[in-house]
Amino acid sequence: MNSERSSSISQSRVRVQLGDRSYDIQISSGAIDQFVDLILDAIPDLSHALVISDEAVESPWVGQIKTAFDQKATAVRVSGTSVRSGEVSKSIDEFNRLLKWILAEGGDRKSVVIAVGGGVIGDLAGYVAASFARGLRFVQVPTTLLAMVDSSVGGKTGINLPTAKNMVGAFWQPSLVLIDSDVLSTLPDRSYLSGLAEVVKYGVIDDADFFQWLEINALPLVNRQSEAVRYAIEKSCQSKARVVGEDERETSGRRAILNYGHTFAHAIEATCGYGKLLHGEAVSIGMEMAARLAQELGLVEDDLLQRQTRLLQKCRLPVVLPKADPDQMLPVMMRDKKVEHGKLRFILPSKIGSVDLVGDVDQQLVREVILKTR
Ligand code: GLY
Repeated sequence: MNSERSSSISQSRVRVQLGDRSYDIQISSGAIDQFVDLILDAIPDLSHALVISDEAVESPWVGQIKTAFDQKATAVRVSGTSVRSGEVSKSIDEFNRLLKWILAEGGDRKSVVIAVGGGVIGDLAGYVAASFARGLRFVQVPTTLLAMVDSSVGGKTGINLPTAKNMVGAFWQPSLVLIDSDVLSTLPDRSYLSGLAEVVKYGVIDDADFFQWLEINALPLVNRQSEAVRYAIEKSCQSKARVVGEDERETSGRRAILNYGHTFAHAIEATCGYGKLLHGEAVSIGMEMAARLAQELGLVEDDLLQRQTRLLQKCRLPVVLPKADPDQMLPVMMRDKKVEHGKLRFILPSKIGSVDLVGDVDQQLVREVILKTR
C-alpha cells in the first residue's frame, strides 16, 4: 500500500497492493467531473458501462456520471439500473434480477459494472460482477462514509440469505475505487456520524497518530469540514488497504482485526432489532464493550477506554446501550465466526493503534462488561 497527494486540488490516491489485482482508491473533494477520465485511465478498453446505483442517489449524481460518459467517451455504451435502498436489496431475487438485466443489456466479458451507492449496492453489484460470465471488472463509487472507509475497499462482495447476513458471496476486487467526499454533504446526519465509528476504529486498531489527529479534529469532522473529511477518509483507506494487502482472504487472521467491536456489534444488531440502530452506532457501542473487556482482562493502558469513549462521544456516537441484555447477546456471540471449540475470542486493544486476537474469554466477564455498558 502507498499513498500519493496532489497539491493542486484536494485529492490523494491510496494503492491497494495485491499483485495483479492491485488497484487505486482515488479520494477527492469536488471532482466528480473527473471520474470518467479516471475510469478510462484504469480501464482503457472500456466499451460498455453497467451503472448499478442506489435509487436514493439516482439523481442527479448518477446522471452526471452518465452525461460525462456521453460527452467524453462517445464510444462507451452506458446502461443503468437502480436498486431499492436498504439491506432488503442484498437478496437472491435482486441478484437474479441484475444478472438478467445485464444479459438483456447485451453485457459480455468486456462490460464493466460501476456500483454507485452505499455498502448494500457495493456488496450486491460487486457480487453480480463477480458472477456474470465468471467475472466482470467493476468500479466502486461509494456514496456513504461507511462505504468509503470500509465496504468499498477490499473485495468482499455478497448477499444475505433470509436468516444469515452476508452468507453468500465472493472475494472480488474492484479495478478502481472512486471517492468524492463532497457527496457526503447531503447524507443524513445519523448515517454520516455512524460512518465515523469505523473511522475511529482504524485509529484504535492500526494508527495511533491518526487517533490523536481525530481527538484534535473531531469537531471539524463532525461538521463535515471538507479537508478534514477527505483526510479522515484517506487515513482510513490507508489502514484498510494495508490490512487487506496483508491478508486478502482472511486466511492469516490479520484481516480479522477490522472486526474490532464487531462481535459485540453483531449481537447488538441481532438482539435490538435491525434498523433500530445503524451499523456504525452498534460498532461504537461494540468498541466500548471490547475496550472495557480488555481493561477488565488487564490488557490495556489505563486511559485507553477513557480516550476512546471521549472520542466517540465527540463524534456524537452512542457509547452505552440501556437495553443491552447479556442473556440474548451471548447466544448470538457464541455463533460468531471467531468462536473456536465453544470459546469466545475477541479482537481487543493492547494500546491505541494496536490490537490482538484474544482467545478463551470467560463468558461471565463478557456478561459483566455488557451490563457495565448500559
Ligand atoms: N469489513 C471487514 C473487512 O472488510 O474485512
